[in-house]
Amino acid sequence: MSRRVVLGVCGGIAAYKAVEVCRLLVESGMHVAPVLTEGATHFVGPLTFSALASEPARTTLLGAPEPVPHTTLGQSADLVIVAPATAKLLGKYAAGISDDLLTATLLATRAPVLLAPAMHTEMWEHPAVRANVETLLARGVHLVGPDAGPLAGGDVGVGRLADPARIVDAALGLVGGGSGPLTGRRVLVTSGGTREAIDPVRYIGNRSSGKMGDAVAAAAARRGAEVVLVTTTSRPTREGIEVVRVESAQEMADVVLDRFDRSDAVVMAAAVADFRPKTAAPTKIKKGGGVPEILLEPTPDILAMLGERKAAGQMLVGFAAETGNLRANAAAKLTAKRLDLIVANDVTEPGSGFEVDTNRATLLDSAGGVDELPLMSKAALAEVVVDRIEGGLAARDGGGAGP
Ligand code: PMT
Repeated sequence: MSRRVVLGVCGGIAAYKAVEVCRLLVESGMHVAPVLTEGATHFVGPLTFSALASEPARTTLLGAPEPVPHTTLGQSADLVIVAPATAKLLGKYAAGISDDLLTATLLATRAPVLLAPAMHTEMWEHPAVRANVETLLARGVHLVGPDAGPLAGGDVGVGRLADPARIVDAALGLVGGGSGPLTGRRVLVTSGGTREAIDPVRYIGNRSSGKMGDAVAAAAARRGAEVVLVTTTSRPTREGIEVVRVESAQEMADVVLDRFDRSDAVVMAAAVADFRPKTAAPTKIKKGGGVPEILLEPTPDILAMLGERKAAGQMLVGFAAETGNLRANAAAKLTAKRLDLIVANDVTEPGSGFEVDTNRATLLDSAGGVDELPLMSKAALAEVVVDRIEGGLAARDGGGAGP
């Protein structure tokens, strides 16, 4: 049975991001009941939430169809989330004031409560707000964010609403994970850049941070998939994801090939070295010996090997890191490696590719489809990629083979 979540939304500019929180919660298999404060309705309409959530959005304590909506909501909830939680909401909740449906629901529930505050830095740092937060934490309320970054009005500082995906991860952590459209599916994702040893100290590497692959792994896990992340990085990952750490292309190939038969989908977001030193020196190469000549040899092409082995029900997704001729180069990789989908990004474009939190990609699929996406967060791009995996696997179940 799906978990019931009350999603409270307060009146702040970040209210528009609560729409994405709502969508991600539903996609994770949650039953979502939205509750908007009067202030929230100035920023985003109840109709938007009603269309995305599991039941119509509620906005009033009095005059609702049921006589006591706050107790109905509070008692049946497995979790109450407030995103964004304004300074006013924190103050009222800490003081036990219930003058609208959301604050009444917060007082009427025994379920865990997760608050995602969002406000200007000065407000977040005000002693009154700090004291309210301390009070709420002492009562067992959970907090996610706020993050540092750009705020409304051009300011920059702490107070930004946590990324919707992070709010949903925190929510899933509190209600013990979830089921979703990918429940029962096994998805293997690679992330980070491989390191090819020159000697015990030095290596040939690249600039991959692992952010893109990690976002795909988290998005698949949120939808209920059993996820294995094969990574060269040690970035924190979402609870429930099995992490296998590797260093070189060979180590990555060994793990991925070993796990491939048990995977429904593989997403190779890792930047795998194409070449490695033919031999790694057993001890540190000394300067005194002159400039060394390092002979390179090709690494195993993991995706190409997977493409050869791929069974009818499996989906193979590659990435293409390009510096020009994006579509033509990516299309050639799609065909040569027998992929179902390739996510092509121009790594020279500002805001795209390595290390940044955003990416701009063109998706090319084996049916000839091309989808040029705008610049978006890596978390949002990961959702698009996982949408395609979800659709592709469902089509295979139904006898089709759409990517
Ligand atoms: O990690 P971030 O900092 O977030 O950066 C994200 C990213 C730029 C690394 C990511 O978006 C990306 O483009 N990943 C693919 C990088 C890459 O190796 O591209 P490629 O065009 O060289 O390789 C094509 C595909 O073959 C890739 O899926 C790659 O994983 C795979 N490959 C490559 C070489 C090899 N020996 N074996 C492989 O499987």
